Amino acid sequence: MAERAAEYPVMPAIIGRWSQRAMSGAAVSEAELMSLFEAARWAPSSYNGQPWRYIYAHKGSAAWNAMFDLLDPINKLWCTNAAVLMILVARTQFEHNEKHDRSHALNAGASWQNLALQGHALGLAVRGMQDFDYVRAVESFNIREPYAVQMMIAVGQPGDRALLPEPLRSKDSPTLRKPVAAIAFENAFTPDN
Ligand SMILES: Cc1cc2nc3c(=O)[nH]c(=O)nc-3n(C[C@H](O)[C@H](O)[C@H](O)COP(=O)(O)O)c2cc1C
Repeated sequence: MAERAAEYPVMPAIIGRWSQRAMSGAAVSEAELMSLFEAARWAPSSYNGQPWRYIYAHKGSAAWNAMFDLLDPINKLWCTNAAVLMILVARTQFEHNEKHDRSHALNAGASWQNLALQGHALGLAVRGMQDFDYVRAVESFNIREPYAVQMMIAVGQPGDRALLPEPLRSKDSPTLRKPVAAIAFENAFTPDN
């Protein structure tokens, strides 16, 4: 795997953050957890609507077991050592007028990225997930309209990659990215695929 490298200068945390699967099973403190949510709440959003809501559960609780049960088998393989599991839910309507918020998912995504960056700053392992049962998540956690499930998140203390089962062990390292030229277009949209 090639090293991550910036084509242009960016804040070190942007490249330093990555979604480590290897977690030790040790607890995440209340201070660490609240620091994650503190970061999450400062994300920008349309009309400052702040549609993100996090349902979270500590390992050992009935709610953690219920969240773990929603995961696809591949995610269960590494999430066994997650200290905290979360479901990120977004309010799909603005609170100020109950009109549909077209950017609810985008805003929730900005909040998640803040949380992930804060996790990196604290030295935690943080990884998002979409491979889980969204329908059962709604039922299990009584998530009513206008709220919609966006993703799940696993948070833990970093663990030993060597203890991960394959095929995860060999994949658990920082990923690369498309070049800037493939994502930014001056004047006209000319994607290469
Ligand atoms: C919304 C979302 C859903 C994801 N779903 C999963 C998942 O179900 N299982 C998994 O192992 N990783 C999942 N990931 C992690 C991505 O694969 C990972 O972020 C991507 O490969 C980039 O790597 P990096 O985060 O280490 O930079 C998800 C990430 C996001 C943002």
